[in-house]
Formats: sequence, C-alpha cells, structure tokens
Amino acid sequence: MSAELPAILLPEASLRHPESTKWLKYPADVLPLWVADMDYAVAPVITAALRERASSGLGYFQYLQPEPGVSALLREKLATQSITELPEGGIRSLPGVVPGLYASVLGLTSPGDEVISMTPIYPPFMSAIADYGRHLRAAELVHGEAGWQIDWEALEAAVTPGTRLLMLCHPHNPTGRVWTQAELARLAEFVLRHRLWVVSDELHADLSFQGAHQAFVSVNPALRERTVTLTGPCKTYNTAGLGIGAAVSHNLELLDRLARASVGVMGSASAMSMTMWIAALTGGAQWLETVMAQLLANRDLLTRRLRAELPWVRYSPPEATYLAFLDLRAHPRAADIQAFLLSEAKVALNDGLTFGPGYQGFVRLNFATSPEILNEAIARLVTALS
Ligand SMILES: Cc1ncc(COP(=O)(O)O)c(C=O)c1O
Repeated sequence: MSAELPAILLPEASLRHPESTKWLKYPADVLPLWVADMDYAVAPVITAALRERASSGLGYFQYLQPEPGVSALLREKLATQSITELPEGGIRSLPGVVPGLYASVLGLTSPGDEVISMTPIYPPFMSAIADYGRHLRAAELVHGEAGWQIDWEALEAAVTPGTRLLMLCHPHNPTGRVWTQAELARLAEFVLRHRLWVVSDELHADLSFQGAHQAFVSVNPALRERTVTLTGPCKTYNTAGLGIGAAVSHNLELLDRLARASVGVMGSASAMSMTMWIAALTGGAQWLETVMAQLLANRDLLTRRLRAELPWVRYSPPEATYLAFLDLRAHPRAADIQAFLLSEAKVALNDGLTFGPGYQGFVRLNFATSPEILNEAIARLVTALS
C-alpha cells in the first residue's frame, strides 16, 4: 500500500466481499481491473451519515418527497459546472444513470428512429438504443497523434432526416476524453442545425484532471430547450451499490416525457442513497481530492510503464476517469485479446468489442486501485504480451 495514501485502499476482505461484482466474477488468482468500481473505501462522511440515518430516532425509511432533499445541494453543484437558472422541478431523481439513458431513448424518440452517438461508447448507450427498436447511427472517433478526436465528417455523415437524438458522454467512457469548449460549441452547432434532442451523460464530471467540468448544455443557451443532462455520485464517490442519479433539464417537458415513458417501471432512489449523496456533496471534497491525486499518480504510472515496456500499445492517457482504453490490435492474439489476457496474464479487463463493433483488439483497464496492484497487473500484462 502506498505511503501517501494508506487509508483508502479497501482491505482484502472488503474487496472480496461476497457481493462484489468486480472481485468475485473471476477466479481468485485473477487481478480484476475491469468494471468501473474503485478499490477505495468510501469517504468517512458517507459511512457516518448512513450509520446516523440507520440509528434509532433518525431511521426514516418511508416514502420520500418527490423533490428530494439532495436537490438544493445538487443545484449549487451544477452551478459550478455552469448549469444555472434551472426552473423548479428541473432536477428529477433516478435510481441510477443507466435508467436515465433508457428513459431518454424511450421518451425522446419513437420506435424506428435513429440515435447518434460517438463510438467507442459505454455499452448501455448502445443497448438502450437497440433494446427498444431504435437504430444507432455510430460516428467513430479517430485515434491519432492528438489522441481521441471527434470525426466531424463521420458525424455529419451519420445524420439523416430520421435522426432524433444525440447521446453524448462527457467526460467520455471509455477514452477518458474531456471535450473542450471548442468541441462542445461545435457539437452544439451540429445539434441545433439538425434539430436533435440531446442526452448528455456527465456521470464522470468530477473525475476530470483538466479542472472544473463544463456541462455541454452550458455552451450555448439554445441547448437548454433540447438537452437532458444525467448526473450522479456513483463514479465520483464509489457508491454504485447505492444506486441514485438525476435527470436535469431547463425544459420540464423533456423531463415529463422521460417520466411518462418509464411510468411504473422506473422505481425511485432509496432513502440511504439520498443520505449518501447529501453527505458526499456536503463533506466529500477532501476525500475526493485524495482520490484524484491517487488516480493521477496511477494514470501516470500506467503511462510511463506502457511507453517503456509495451511501446507498441497505442494509448492516449485519459483526461478524466480511471479508465484507460488500450489498442492492442498489433498483437497476434488481437482477435481474442480479452480472453487471452484473462488466461495468460490472469488480469481481467473489459473487452473492446463491448464498446462498439469496431473495437475488437482493444481493452479497457480500470486503474482505480493501489499502485501495488496496478504494478503487479502491468507486470503480468507485459510478460503475457511480450
Ligand atoms: C458513462 C456512464 N454512465 C452510466 C454509468 C452507470 O451509472 P449507474 O450505475 O448510475 O446506472 C456508468 C458506469 O460506469 C458510466 O460510465
């Protein structure tokens, strides 16, 4: 465990908790650097708040107000991302961000409509489109010397008169890109010219190494009528098991459409998840600062070792998140690279193919762990790939 950050790595027994997806999916000799959970203990303010709510006298677990207590804090936080002047009712809680993605597809498009997104992309974007008979129009990003970039020609070519919605991921999972002000402004122009709705998944906003996050909706006032922003605490505070999120818009009709499309099946966020989010927004800043320092150190460690020991691996260090998207297509086993690394290196990564049909030979590596585990995983990958 590193000297600077002794407190935050979860002990082995917690990592291997019987309900852990990340650590129990694969055999015990496999290092799991796949699903986007961190190996760090949650902020002490969160555990304290959960304990307090569960204690006698404060144990209120009945039906909750429709406008959750977290809204006022969230409103303040969103203002730091330039989302201002939200109307009353402009924040609706969700049991998670993925349900918000699905509700957006259902509420903002009709069966047979086209939805545009930039691939590679977090898999539920594609399943939300396909599962309900909408069609993905994929605009592949380009990966060159300048890192992952939007292919503007591909984006224009992907739009047809049947395209209704842009699904944006900002910061972007799996590449870790933080779209710049210039890129966001150009995307805004694209959206307005083609009269698209937008759902912007900004779940990774707090995990940027580039400074304060700028929300997509903030780059052009005309986007307010067309955009739903999705946010939540689970990537920032490592609380995915306490499902909660929010759909945010200046246009209440869009939020109503999401609600109508998912009436009866959406469910609601739990009392404990609200307590967690309130605690995180109120007192989680210092914990997050420590975690970000660890993530940056791990990212740079990964970058240094890949450049030195596997220089043929094409990789652009992420500008946000703890996910690295590695291009291993030059390897003879590119056709089954995830399975090869699982069996030969005993390292579990996400298969690139799940991020879009063009991404066989890529893997996504989650570096939100200790430097020791990361070093061990890199050593195993180097041995298996060399
Ligand atoms: C971009 C993005 N959206 C949504 C999610 C999942 O959100 P939730 O667990 O709140 O449904 C993830 C999880 O990694 C993600 O990376």
